[in-house]
Amino acid sequence: MSTDGVDTSKRRFLIAATSVVGAVGVGFVAVPFISSMEPSARAKAAGAPVEADFSKLELGSMITVAWRGKPVWILRRTKRNLADLKTLDSQLRDPNSEVHHQPPYCKNEHRSRKPEYLVVIGICTHLGCSPTYRPEIAPPDLGPKWLGGYFCPCHGSRYDLAGRVYKDVPAPTNLVVPKYMYLADTRVTIGKDDEGAA
Ligand code: FES
Repeated sequence: MSTDGVDTSKRRFLIAATSVVGAVGVGFVAVPFISSMEPSARAKAAGAPVEADFSKLELGSMITVAWRGKPVWILRRTKRNLADLKTLDSQLRDPNSEVHHQPPYCKNEHRSRKPEYLVVIGICTHLGCSPTYRPEIAPPDLGPKWLGGYFCPCHGSRYDLAGRVYKDVPAPTNLVVPKYMYLADTRVTIGKDDEGAA
């Protein structure tokens, strides 16, 4: 294990998690040639909304979707994950999401439109690294109180499975939740909601 608390098994996990994008991600990832020929390609890179289908996402798993050049995570939380969220408030810096880092419809205890699915930008609010998904309960390096969440390997910030930041870490705020809306039970548009584009 290295001194920053990240061992090679976690790096492998990160690679495995991010590699799912190619198989499950949005259409423009699967057809790069066609996308590159579309007049709207530049608009997409600049921030046009993207669609994501996560119908094959298993409980406890997540996928990463590219939007505006940023990773957006879609996590399918278990019932236990959702129950655990309610127990963490005293350890969190902004448990009720008072800082405006989510649309109004995600200012709730699970920070999402549907409790089961978290949609959040996977960029640490400290200095912009991408945290690692750590769903294990009480792993040795994260301690007995760890109930699953995201760990940033750069300077040790920690977030729970709603993207809420823990106290006493460098990151100042919760992870950012983008605008999004459901098109079907397991399909969303990211970057746009009923009020328009983000
Ligand atoms: S960038 Fe994540 S803790 Fe510093």
